[in-house]
Amino acid sequence: MAAGAAGEARRNRGFPQAGRPWDSLKAEMLSAREGDKPWCHERSFTAAYFAGEDVLRCADEAYDAYRAENGLFAASAYPSLAARQRELIAGVLDLLHAPEGAGGSATAGGTESILMAMKAARDWAQAHRPVAGPPEVVVPQTAHAAFDKGAAWLGMRVVRMERSEDWRADVAGMAAAVSENTVMIAGSAPPYPYGETDPIDEIAQIAREHDLWMHSDGCIGGMILPFMKALGDAIPPFDFAVTGVTSMSVDMHKFGYANKGISLCLLRDAGLDRYHRTSCDGWPAGLYSTPTITGTRSGGGVASAWAVMTHLGEEGFLRIHAAQKRIRDRLVDGIGAIEGLVVLGRPHALHVSFYADGFDIYAVEEGMAARGWRSVRMRAPEAILLWLNMKHAQSIEAYLADLAEVAAAVRAGGLTAAGRGASDYAT
Ligand SMILES: Cc1ncc(COP(=O)(O)O)c(C=O)c1O
Repeated sequence: MAAGAAGEARRNRGFPQAGRPWDSLKAEMLSAREGDKPWCHERSFTAAYFAGEDVLRCADEAYDAYRAENGLFAASAYPSLAARQRELIAGVLDLLHAPEGAGGSATAGGTESILMAMKAARDWAQAHRPVAGPPEVVVPQTAHAAFDKGAAWLGMRVVRMERSEDWRADVAGMAAAVSENTVMIAGSAPPYPYGETDPIDEIAQIAREHDLWMHSDGCIGGMILPFMKALGDAIPPFDFAVTGVTSMSVDMHKFGYANKGISLCLLRDAGLDRYHRTSCDGWPAGLYSTPTITGTRSGGGVASAWAVMTHLGEEGFLRIHAAQKRIRDRLVDGIGAIEGLVVLGRPHALHVSFYADGFDIYAVEEGMAARGWRSVRMRAPEAILLWLNMKHAQSIEAYLADLAEVAAAVRAGGLTAAGRGASDYAT
């Protein structure tokens, strides 16, 4: 038992009593970390976004420069940070063919961007075409779990498709699922589980016919697809060039190569901001009005994303994505050349899923893990999911050589899987 600061008895369960010098604490903290997996490694294909040491340095130093500034006070106290945010949003809107008068806000991540788009759609519908039941959002089978999280928080209902024809959204099913309570419809560019972009133009057509809010989730592809298209890939329309796309989510902390904690929620019409933001003027401290879930947040995310965008520019992104496209294309060809392995769909971005026809892909995953290769296990279908970055330029041939050997061993019955579970994302 210990006496707390206020004098009440308190069980001594974890809050340190005496302080300790930072130097020894730091050494202890860093040595404890040695047991962790590296965040980015050439033999790891879990989601890590690495575009080169120069880009990382730029992201880190810009983040550090604004780490202590509170983004909540950007407009009132830090005009330089507010200007960086405006330039960042304007830059990405430009990249994604947004019309004159478009707008958006900076959020802490893709989940928050999706939640804010859902909140805006709900409130827009309430003002324009109120529905009787819980407002519904129709999404493809592969839409990110953030839509379910948003629905749970916002009193909405997710209508999720059960199939993904050809690894893309089941558009006919989505059209049939629109009800009198539907307010929003969404697609992914591309979705997390399979790398192929949904037919955003066909989904937007449904939105136009039924007067729905249409969200294109570009959390992954927003900062990849425009460049892959410029590099010659056949990328289906996915951005504001598609009439009917009302909002987009674009994660700068993924393929915008900024430090964690920054995404954009973009709006075709800046005027929609009134449904997007929440304002409170009825408390003693003055008007509190934000287009985000978070209040206090580091200014570092905005600074980091702005710095990488400006440091690389279009030319830099093209250079990096051209190199990563070579890795991806080599991987897709290499996997396709191994007997029994099949790539899911046409990977448009920088992640590739593949399954095994006639043998156990989880045994392949375990065999590869035993050789030091980390990857992600998918459930439906059972598959291996690989996230690519610049580090893999050095390792892709070794990966493919090991994959061919391990797949052959599994096919021959020489390797079996110890576990059946897919990767999970529980924190
Ligand atoms: C397509 C897609 N949307 C949304 C998200 C959620 O992003 P975050 O993890 O930044 O909240 C992810 C995350 O991987 C994603 O892949």
